[in-house]
Amino acid sequence: MTEYLSYTFNDSEEFIQTFDEAPLWSASFGLLLLKHLELKPNLRVIDMGSGAGFPLMELAGRMGNTCKLFGIDPWKNASVRAKQKIKNYGLTNVELIESSAEQIPFADNTIDLIVSNLGINNFDKPDIVFKECNRVLKPNGKLALTSNLNGHWKEFYAIFYSTLKQLGKENLIAILKNDEEHRGTVESVSKLFTDTGFTITRYYEESFEMKFVDGSTFLNHYFVKLGWLTTWMSILPKEDLQEIFSALEQNLNEYSKINVGLSLTVPMLFIEGEKV
Ligand SMILES: C[S@@+](CC[C@H](N)C(=O)[O-])C[C@H]1O[C@@H](n2cnc3c(N)ncnc32)[C@H](O)[C@@H]1O
Repeated sequence: MTEYLSYTFNDSEEFIQTFDEAPLWSASFGLLLLKHLELKPNLRVIDMGSGAGFPLMELAGRMGNTCKLFGIDPWKNASVRAKQKIKNYGLTNVELIESSAEQIPFADNTIDLIVSNLGINNFDKPDIVFKECNRVLKPNGKLALTSNLNGHWKEFYAIFYSTLKQLGKENLIAILKNDEEHRGTVESVSKLFTDTGFTITRYYEESFEMKFVDGSTFLNHYFVKLGWLTTWMSILPKEDLQEIFSALEQNLNEYSKINVGLSLTVPMLFIEGEKV
């Protein structure tokens, strides 16, 4: 019963390789998920798009050994890291499945709960994945997810649009708007549920602020580069990138001077559906 009393902290290089707080972006959404999720014993749970193991490992720890959790994600390198966490955290109730959620390797009606933090609704074929979730869930099983919403970083995008205007590149505004607006709305995410055999049981909207010293720190942040810059660079003309980003960085830095930093709003959605 009290095995944990023999625990001693192992400050090894191997352990520290898997020790971190969840990344800035995922963590806020994960907290929203953990705040609203109903945790019960004896559940079979899937974390869809479990990546490097968040919130899968946290849920495994909080739900305990009467529950069995599966992380589904095709990303090989992330799964190596997730495996290492399972070992180092001593978890015995988690299994990783390295595959796409477009074909979930479970029989019909065998899962109680599916969660997805910043996942399913942004996958390539969300409608197929939602249908698969519905198939494997038991009747009245729940699908709960978090998503960022249209309107994220609105302060940043306002400066991006005015920069394009200032440079006489109004023709690029529609391209950028199209990318900005492909994030879901409460209505569009709800529709994915209701089109695939779920009723919406509840949803909550919240937001948080991401603060940066200025535009230079924002544009150089590893996660902004990884998650966003690469997309902007792929949708805007290559030959214009230097001019656009120099002006954008300057405008963001001027804004930051006046407003004492760059504070960006991130709207979030927690939404839960039940298999009808
Ligand atoms: C934004 S990341 C979120 C990762 C993690 N849940 C978190 O909160 O940090 C989205 C994840 O979905 C995974 N993914 C993308 N398409 C997928 C699919 N068809 N089936 C399963 N996972 C997928 C990606 O590999 C990635 O790990």
